[in-house]
Amino acid sequence: MSIDYSEKIPNNVNLAGNRTLQRALEHWQPEFLKWWGDMGPVNTTTAEVYLRTAVSVEPKGWAHFDHVKMPDYRWGIFLAPAEAGRTVHFGAHKGEPAWQEVPGEYRANLRRLIVTQGDTEPASVEQQRHLGLTCPSLYDLRNLFQVNVEEGRHLWAMVYLLHAHFGRDGREEAEALLERRSGDADNPRILGAFNEPTPDWLSFFMFTFFTDRDGKYQLCSLAESGFDPLARTCRFMLTEEAHHMFVGESGVGRIIQRTCETMATHRTEDPGALRALGVIDLPTLQRYLNFHFSVTMDLFGSDVSSNAATFYTTGLKGRFDETRITDDHVLAGATYPVLEVRDGQLASVAAPALNALNETLRDDYVKDAQAGIERWNRIIEKAAIPFRLKAPHKAFNRRIGPLSAARIDPEGNVISEADWTHRHLQWLPSAADRAFVASLMGRVAEPGKFAHWIAPPARGINGQPADFEYVRFN
Ligand SMILES: [Fe+2]
Ligand SMILES: [Fe+2]
Repeated sequence: MSIDYSEKIPNNVNLAGNRTLQRALEHWQPEFLKWWGDMGPVNTTTAEVYLRTAVSVEPKGWAHFDHVKMPDYRWGIFLAPAEAGRTVHFGAHKGEPAWQEVPGEYRANLRRLIVTQGDTEPASVEQQRHLGLTCPSLYDLRNLFQVNVEEGRHLWAMVYLLHAHFGRDGREEAEALLERRSGDADNPRILGAFNEPTPDWLSFFMFTFFTDRDGKYQLCSLAESGFDPLARTCRFMLTEEAHHMFVGESGVGRIIQRTCETMATHRTEDPGALRALGVIDLPTLQRYLNFHFSVTMDLFGSDVSSNAATFYTTGLKGRFDETRITDDHVLAGATYPVLEVRDGQLASVAAPALNALNETLRDDYVKDAQAGIERWNRIIEKAAIPFRLKAPHKAFNRRIGPLSAARIDPEGNVISEADWTHRHLQWLPSAADRAFVASLMGRVAEPGKFAHWIAPPARGINGQPADFEYVRFN
């Protein structure tokens, strides 16, 4: 399963053995590079960035680090190794051999799943394209660019599947993936969170912590797919996703650390005083957290969904850790609790488990996100500051699903519209919060130097020293 870097499109799928597919992808490649030039990170055509490139698809295959000009990054097609004798693990086809070709009757649904996943990849690159101009350090700039090139590669991963398995429609979808634009009124990206701007580095770190974590959960359920090429593609993408979440978690953690140090030194908890000292107060971090958490909640889709049931029953999309769950993997007759508003409060009702699979995945995600928030809290605890960050209730600030019809506070209380109008800026970032955070953003691009509002990382990338030149400008 070694990766062939001698080819125009690096791959481990023996692209050279399929001339038609190779030609089709070579035709798409310049379109991709044009999109990268137009919509990728600004002012980076000559920058040399210390990037990691996959040298093998094994979990430990991330050995290669080097300075690379970003447009020369070797985006390619890498699938995790095939599992001999793999079967479909769930749904009506449980126990049958996994499919190497798309089953005709599931073609439209599979294409839709792949396109929806694929669309998020270029979207996040577009959302983040201006952040390099205000990087808090070269270390952070490098991490941003690493995330960006890997999201670009994730697009390649989905486009490969579209080209290899969906013929003409697949090629058309691959083109459309380069035509939609994040936040564009006429031709937006498919999912809401991917049309929100990422205007500052606090938003970026929150995004990579919360929204890339949604990516992890979606990829984990697609990695269970009965369609084997999709499963193998997603398994390899997950190794890249782990780094994106690390960037978010450590980024926010370093902001918290700097704020806590400042609180201790100046013996103040007053947000105004802390802002005057040039750090982000903890209540503002909580409001950003609430925003990114709630926007990400919506990405899991409607609480009760017949599509979710169909995707599962037909073996296209499994649950998180499907193969490790010990039940019948068919779920007929099983139920799962979902929330609805009843008599002015949230009530748990039993829905058919198959229809509640979006909610199941959302709940799995919430546990994981909460564990990460607790790791942030340990930094605050260590500084002996009596403040805790908290995930809002999963029903808070929803735009999708039946809960979007009600106003719900971060504790999960149903409140009136008037109450919401009056209090929502205690819970979500205000224009003034965003303006304050924006005011801190200034470019720090000298080796070893960091913006004042963020602590340096505990260690460098790939063991490099603190003053390493992660990005060289030419
Ligand atoms: Fe991705
Ligand atoms: Fe990601």
